[in-house]
Amino acid sequence: MERERVTPKSYPINLIDKDWSKRELYFKKDSTDFLDKVHDLNVRDDDVWIVTYPKCGTTWMQELLWLLMNDCDFETALATDQEIRSPFMEFSFYTYGDADGAIRILEDLDSPRLIKTHLPLALLPAQLWQKKAKVVYVSRNPLDAMVSSYYHGLSWGFYYGQTMEQFFENEILRKKIVEENPIAHFAEFYHLRHEPWIFYTSFENMKDNLCSVIENVAEFLNKPITHEQMERLLKHLSFEEMKNNPTTNHLWERKIVNHPNAGKEDHKFVRRGKVNGYKDELQPDMVAKINCFINAELLRHDVTLDNILLLKD
Ligand code: A3P
Repeated sequence: MERERVTPKSYPINLIDKDWSKRELYFKKDSTDFLDKVHDLNVRDDDVWIVTYPKCGTTWMQELLWLLMNDCDFETALATDQEIRSPFMEFSFYTYGDADGAIRILEDLDSPRLIKTHLPLALLPAQLWQKKAKVVYVSRNPLDAMVSSYYHGLSWGFYYGQTMEQFFENEILRKKIVEENPIAHFAEFYHLRHEPWIFYTSFENMKDNLCSVIENVAEFLNKPITHEQMERLLKHLSFEEMKNNPTTNHLWERKIVNHPNAGKEDHKFVRRGKVNGYKDELQPDMVAKINCFINAELLRHDVTLDNILLLKD
């Protein structure tokens, strides 16, 4: 996807006091209309937004949020694709270039809505910064997220024919790392992590103690759960169950995107689910190249990777 630098109609200056004109934001080329519509979107008081840099465990958290918001209705969750229950805001625009259609999907949703987006803080609806509807944010080691995005793109057809090495050279180092800037994406929400309307966690924390994350999210949403519901949530959200659950593997979206190379090399969306899995998938010299960018950005944002992943707070 070709991206260009974009400037939102306004910045969240009420949330973070910094020189926003220096924040480099990129989005799909020729998207001003869509971004303006997102900026002006009506946010509802009872909305819940799941915001992530791609491949950080969005689907995992989204499934938990949807269940908590819907009285642990496992039957509906197992019968209906997650994308239908909780739409991805940018999806229709990316797929059809239809800004109005993408917004209409959100407007037509019954409340309370659970909306997924990968947009960084400054491109989110201005009403979200003002009304402070609930936002759940999940970070992850960017190297694991990047490896995950390779397999995702391979299965969906976009990167079919590219080796991991070529993907990292051609896509990540040449474009994505600057244009998507994971550290800037994480750092802005990390900065807001103590706000009462934000729940900030990491893939690493979810792997380490899912039960505790579930308890904390349930409290954040004000949705108490019984012991039996907790047991069932832990089972439903386990890696094995989610890997074998057709509704959480984005089959609906993949069918709509319908890339001619889709499925030529097939990996499940819920694929490996490992912390630091990049260490046995990426060559050390590539790790060093990516870390060079990551470390400079961490320094620039005055955070460490351990901070961002909540490994030592
Ligand atoms: P891997 O490709 O490293 O396995 P997103 O939903 O943001 O696109 O993130 C996808 C990543 O989350 C994938 O990572 C996927 O396997 C992982 N994931 C999804 N559900 C999971 C679960 N129940 N347990 C562990 N990892 C999970």
